[in-house]
Amino acid sequence: MTLLIVDGASKTFPPAGGFFGGKSIPVQALRDVSLVIEAGQSFGLVGESGSGKTTLARCIVALETLSSGRILFDGVDVATSSRRDNMALRSAIQIVFQDPYSSLDPRMRVMDIVAEPMVIHRRRIRLGPPERRERVVALLERVGLGSQHLQRFPHEFSGGQRQRIAIARALAAEPRLLVLDEPTSALDVSVQAQVLDLLLELQREMELTYLFVSHDLGAIRYACARVAVMQNGSVVESGPTDVVFDTPAEQYTRELIAAVPDLDPDKSLAARAAAAP
Ligand SMILES: Nc1ncnc2c1ncn2[C@@H]1O[C@H](COP(=O)(O)OP(=O)(O)O)[C@@H](O)[C@H]1O
Ligand SMILES: [Mg+2]
Repeated sequence: MTLLIVDGASKTFPPAGGFFGGKSIPVQALRDVSLVIEAGQSFGLVGESGSGKTTLARCIVALETLSSGRILFDGVDVATSSRRDNMALRSAIQIVFQDPYSSLDPRMRVMDIVAEPMVIHRRRIRLGPPERRERVVALLERVGLGSQHLQRFPHEFSGGQRQRIAIARALAAEPRLLVLDEPTSALDVSVQAQVLDLLLELQREMELTYLFVSHDLGAIRYACARVAVMQNGSVVESGPTDVVFDTPAEQYTRELIAAVPDLDPDKSLAARAAAAP
């Protein structure tokens, strides 16, 4: 079953202009991007910095709107849905950002951070305060954090722990699609592998669909069945990950792959981390 369709998506940001005379030309961040993600699939999105990956991710979760084209989630346009559909979409599509230091509200306790989606979506996720608390404890435990952390603030945690909290928070909304925008890129190498493995376990357990954005081709190769390669706002190549990585059709993809010193498909990230000093 098809879960997400991106159909001819384009996005232009207006010129920055600004007091210091910044760029005066508009930035075309997405150019006629189309892709299809099947339910239960991990779909990878790769490309150099500035190629438009985050912009696409933000448009999918409706933090930005497209200039033209459409994004359909389970047949519903994420931009023009009715208010009721909109609430359902907002819980069904969750995002985990790259930077766990800025994505969690520093003034909120972990308990409230993870419970918040259940409060926002209380019409759909009908739990009273005691059940909510139970669910927070269960979610934290599932991502590898004990209940002793409930009353702590984000600054009391490491980067990896914060990303686990962000994942628990996303799961609290009972999503079907998780958009992961460089979810491990800001973390230490050893922690990257742990968080990636956690994400893959969760996906299997909860039958989640992932859009996995990363410039880490090793992680994408490890985690994703299909991949799209973006360059300068366009998808230049897409297909099964093995095919794209083993027999890239585009020069750009070949260059991306050549830039990775050790992209061995048989070497999991865990193995890479274990080998790291
Ligand atoms: N809010 C914004 N305003 C203006 N330009 C932006 C904005 N967000 C992103 N861009 C520009 O859009 C392009 C794509 O950026 P982005 O989607 O962040 O790429 P990536 O995630 O692949 O690094 C870049 O040129 C970036 O500078
Ligand atoms: Mg980005």
